[in-house]
Amino acid sequence: MLRRVNSWHYFRAMAKQDDKLKKVISHAKEYGFVFPSSEIYDGLSAAYDYGQLGVELKNNIKSYWWDSMVKMHENIVGLDASIFMHPTTWKASGHVDAFNDPLIDNKDSKKRYRADVLIEDFVEKIRMKIQKDVDKAAKRFGDAFDEAEFVSTNGNVVRRQKQIDEILARFKKAMDDEDLADVKKLIEDLEIADPDTGSRNWTDVRQFNLMFKTELGAVSGDAGIIYLRPETAQGIFVNYLNVQKSGRMKLPFGIAQIGKAFRNEIIARQFIFRMREFEQMEMQFFIKPGTQGEWYDYWKNQRIKWHKALGMGEDNYRFHDHIKLAHYADAASDVEFNFPMGFRELEGIHSRTDFDLVSHEEHSGKKLRYFDPETNDSYVPYVVETSIGLDRMFLAVMSSAYTEETLEDGSERILMNIHPALAPVKAAVLPLMKKDGLPEKAREIIDNLKTDFNVFYEEKDAIGRRYRRQDAIGTPFCITVDHQTLEDQTVTIRHRDSMEQDRVAIADVHQIISEKVSLRNLLLAAQ
Ligand code: GAP
Repeated sequence: MLRRVNSWHYFRAMAKQDDKLKKVISHAKEYGFVFPSSEIYDGLSAAYDYGQLGVELKNNIKSYWWDSMVKMHENIVGLDASIFMHPTTWKASGHVDAFNDPLIDNKDSKKRYRADVLIEDFVEKIRMKIQKDVDKAAKRFGDAFDEAEFVSTNGNVVRRQKQIDEILARFKKAMDDEDLADVKKLIEDLEIADPDTGSRNWTDVRQFNLMFKTELGAVSGDAGIIYLRPETAQGIFVNYLNVQKSGRMKLPFGIAQIGKAFRNEIIARQFIFRMREFEQMEMQFFIKPGTQGEWYDYWKNQRIKWHKALGMGEDNYRFHDHIKLAHYADAASDVEFNFPMGFRELEGIHSRTDFDLVSHEEHSGKKLRYFDPETNDSYVPYVVETSIGLDRMFLAVMSSAYTEETLEDGSERILMNIHPALAPVKAAVLPLMKKDGLPEKAREIIDNLKTDFNVFYEEKDAIGRRYRRQDAIGTPFCITVDHQTLEDQTVTIRHRDSMEQDRVAIADVHQIISEKVSLRNLLLAAQ
């Protein structure tokens, strides 16, 4: 079913979204959230460094995820497996043979593309033409317009839709048959040109494995080849029995892990959305075979609650249930978030059956069975996994928090309304002046807060400018120390979003901050 979108509005909305992503990227750099990697050498494509505020935000996102998994579920425990694993791991998981993208080079421009993306972009252009026809007709017929009837009877639309169906069917067949010559032929038949140069001088299509290879120690040749892990999940699978036995875990139970993963993406773009080195937060939940349907629904529900508790807008999330499933899955769904580029995958929830454990049993020759004390029998558990990219979550938080506001007096501010529990700095303590004992008093307050919160001291510039800087990094509270503080032990506390200020006793400040920034409320809301 086609969406009814007015194209002009659609393109304007897209341009605005692009604009927003650019603003978020430049804000992230200006304030020390994210820097391009090795920037003094002009950077390295698709690699980024997290700066002084970025690392705090990232750690807070990790804590929220970790606590919601490991602290809030008594049957989930953590793990920190190594990045390097025995190479057979990746044979067993299917990554050596099947973790590929079809790649094509343009001989003139020397640019490299994903063949599937070139074809999908071509199809998207035809879809846009259909959309244009639909919009025109909707305008012409007004309320009497019946879109379903129009798209099934209008000659142009039917012809274009047939073309799309034929292209996609041919592409699918070519991929299923591993007929890469026909993928190239399809690109040629459709006269697809290099989007940058217009050249149609293409190489053959070949499969490109996304795993990074390196060599172990002094061993040379194939025997020494080792991979940087493309997902953290396999570290959990190979340790499943270690954890189950040493922790005396009973099914159902989960193992959670946060760690780096590496994929040699052919096209890595859109800032930290698609990188070659990134971090995943994954949890594998081991269950009795036959119960996967109920656990899959349970984890879909849990994960969407976790996201929505952050208050980043109910409408900014949607599920995308997979129709075409990976070889190991019997159900899969993505949580999509409305990024500045539109709705994109943020997290995956996959019912992975017993594929991985059975395959590791076969390749290792070791039994990975669970002895069920209730039924007195042994079996390989099924697995439901939740897998979220930490960097994508970071981008979701940054882009939804970035707000440009015009205030009542006509001045403007940039506000990062990051959830207080995730905010990198919880409070700034600001002496109104650099004299009369105000800085010393401010330091005293800091000393009382710094064991529990990340706090910031600043005495430079007018107080208004200092407030603006804290708004721009998302600090929920500014505590101002003035002459009255010295007389009656009170300070003003300014709230980031409302900009309201209250006079409160210094003795109450810790409690006020704690109530707002603690993960407790967030964890309870996400349950
Ligand atoms: N173990 C399952 C797995 O790895 P996936 O859908 O390939 O599944 C899970 O990846 C999540 O990892 C994605 O939803 C996304 O958030 C993140 N992710 C995947 N590739 C990424 C990349 N190149 N850059 C940043 N994040 C990525």
